Amino acid sequence: MMHQSTKPIALAITGASGAPYALRLLESLVQANRQVYLMVSKAAQVVMPMETALSFPSRPAEAEAMLREYLGAVEGQVRVFGREQWTAPVASGSNPPEAMVICPCSTGTLSAIASGASNNLIERAADVVLKEQRKLILMVRETPFSPIHLENMLKLSRLGVVIMPASPGFYNRPQAVADLVDFMVARVLSHLGIDNPLNRPWGQ
Ligand SMILES: Cc1cc2nc3c(=O)[nH]c(=O)nc-3n(C[C@H](O)[C@H](O)[C@H](O)COP(=O)(O)O)c2cc1C
Repeated sequence: MMHQSTKPIALAITGASGAPYALRLLESLVQANRQVYLMVSKAAQVVMPMETALSFPSRPAEAEAMLREYLGAVEGQVRVFGREQWTAPVASGSNPPEAMVICPCSTGTLSAIASGASNNLIERAADVVLKEQRKLILMVRETPFSPIHLENMLKLSRLGVVIMPASPGFYNRPQAVADLVDFMVARVLSHLGIDNPLNRPWGQ
């Protein structure tokens, strides 16, 4: 089992395009020795094998075993929770994670959070993080945004949620897709306060 001095980070992967961001973020959190509470939506399970070389097993225990091997994580470092696993620690405000990242975040999940739906564990965990006033980062991905998406993002932004659209910059002269992915992941890690080798601050 892991012994952590810091609280876990909750990471939810939903069915917006951008699964490579999620895998790279997960890998970076493991490399930074953070414990991760992972949730994967049904739609993300469809998108993941379309966009990456990885397929995600439906059963949390199988997903944990697969990730231990794929990431070289230690036992217990990445805990995977099912879509209706209401007994998971992230489902209760008595034990909130340090922060939660939804990467990528679909407009559907964005809307569910903005309305407080809490119909699956991802939505409930985000609702808990909001009510407990912990950090919530949404890497929303859609283009163009409709007024509904924009209103939902504005509403959440005003509540302190970090709206971080998957929108990599080109000023570092990216040479490969991996560079674009790292650009976004570095921004997330820096908002989480996690030192990381991906971050190349402007002006240094
Ligand atoms: C290949 C693929 C790409 C998708 N890309 C997006 C996207 O970029 N943004 C988005 O909001 N939804 C996208 N969707 C649709 C969502 O997966 C769908 O709305 C789903 O209900 C989201 O559910 P979830 O939030 O529970 O993951 C995509 C679906 C597929 C299959």
